[in-house]
Amino acid sequence: TLPERVKIVEVGPRDGLQNEKTVVPSEVKIHLIDMLSEAGLSVIEATSFVSPKWVPQMADQVEVMMGIHRRPGVSYPVLTPNLKGFLAAVKAGAAEVAIFGAASELFSKKNINCSVDESLQRFEEVTKAAKEAGVPVRGYVSCVLGCPYEGKVSPDKVAQVAKRLYSMGCYEISLGDTIGVGTPGGMTEMLQAVSREVPVNALAVHCHDTYGQALANILIALQMGISVVDSSVAGLGGCPYAQGASGNVATEDVVYMLHGLGIQTGVDLPKLMDAGAFICRSLNKKTSSKVAQATCKL
Ligand code: HMG
Ligand code: MG
Repeated sequence: TLPERVKIVEVGPRDGLQNEKTVVPSEVKIHLIDMLSEAGLSVIEATSFVSPKWVPQMADQVEVMMGIHRRPGVSYPVLTPNLKGFLAAVKAGAAEVAIFGAASELFSKKNINCSVDESLQRFEEVTKAAKEAGVPVRGYVSCVLGCPYEGKVSPDKVAQVAKRLYSMGCYEISLGDTIGVGTPGGMTEMLQAVSREVPVNALAVHCHDTYGQALANILIALQMGISVVDSSVAGLGGCPYAQGASGNVATEDVVYMLHGLGIQTGVDLPKLMDAGAFICRSLNKKTSSKVAQATCKL
């Protein structure tokens, strides 16, 4: 049975924009975030408190956090790789953060410059400080269905990392198919392994659409009881440390599918499409959303 309602975590302003080559002005980011909240999205990942040397595109994190119009009931989580990032995020007014680990050693090294074990130690510092400050923490596991440096990733490794993040206090674990190589077969196997360690109501899926499998993979996750889905407006994005990976599944496409299944999202599709059109115009880019490209309307 499918869930009645799905929470969409919009990651476009962060995952979507972190990979853009030309610097996106803060005003554009802020306007995008405001259009997304206006469209009814209740969780919008706004930016990252990471090193500007590593990800220059997110260097304006404070301006973005200060500039957005915070709509009541909407949460604006930000990525924090370590305690330094966490403290800066809280100072800038972040009320929710996300830590991001990986199920692959080489990806962890390339992305956050430490081993998986070291990353988990840093994350413990963050979750401890967050608990004291009353800040909820979301946990990501990257490369759950394959790694650009290691190839196959075992479902058991994903389950172990997810379990660690959950036991240190993350309220939700987002399972990232960072390079979009997974299929419904691999997704099923991986989710079976993870759900033996973490309750399924604390899981989310984060699919990139490189191989065109994202919607199929999401449908599998819904059938297995998951009701939180990450996606990116206009299908923007990718990870600077995962070359060749395309963006996340487009939020427009996820919403269209969910509404077609009779599942509530709280999202107004036409308004969401306006947000997608706005950011594509600003980036001078063609949308990756199939729904936004479609010209035959029902
Ligand atoms: P490092 O170089 O090992 O850090 O980077 P360090 O602790 O040795 O410090 C070096 C310098 O960085 C120092 O400054 C620190 O102060 C500074 P310096 O003395 O040289 O002037 N520094 C920081 N500055 C700002 N904010 C911070 C911070 N921490 C240290 N938080 C580090 C380690 C983690 C910082 C670095 O590797 C980094 O920033 N990585 C971020 C990479 C990233 O953002 N990747 C994309 C997001 S993950 C993703 O896209 C996947 C996801 O979407 C899910 C999926 O699809 O699977 C989430
Ligand atoms: Mg991602």
